[in-house]
Amino acid sequence: MTLIAWRDEFRTGIPAVDHEHAELIRLINETHAQLLAGRADAGAIGEALGEILARISAHFALEEQIMRARRYDFFAQHKAEHERLIDDIREIMQEQERGAYAGDAMERLARELSAWFSGHFRTQDARLHRLLGVS
Ligand SMILES: [Fe+2]
Ligand SMILES: [Fe+2]
Repeated sequence: MTLIAWRDEFRTGIPAVDHEHAELIRLINETHAQLLAGRADAGAIGEALGEILARISAHFALEEQIMRARRYDFFAQHKAEHERLIDDIREIMQEQERGAYAGDAMERLARELSAWFSGHFRTQDARLHRLLGVS
C-alpha cells in the first residue's frame, strides 16, 4: 500500500518545487514499503532517515531562496514550519540511534511524516504559489 499518494492539490506550479515534492514522496513511500516488508534493519532505517533529512533540507533551502528573492510576506511563518519538521526528524534520528524506534514506532513515524507533508503542501506551499503568481 502506498503511504502518500500524489494528489493534484500538491502541485505548486513551480516546476523545480513540484519535482522535488514528487521525489520526496517517492523516497518516503519507498522507505515505508521496506519497513512494511520487514526488509529494513536498524542500519538501513538510519540511512533512509539520513537521506530523507538531506533531501528535505535541500528542498527547504530551494523554497526559502525563492521566498527571499521574491520578498514573500509569509516567509517567517513558512520557514518556521520547515524548521519544526527538521527538528522533529533530527529528534527521531537520535531516538532511532538509541534503539528506541523499531517496528510499530517506525510505522507511526512514517504516518507522521505523511501527515506533515500533506498538510504543508496544501497550506504553506500552496499559498506560496498562489501569492507569487508563478506559472
Ligand atoms: Fe515549504
Ligand atoms: Fe515544499
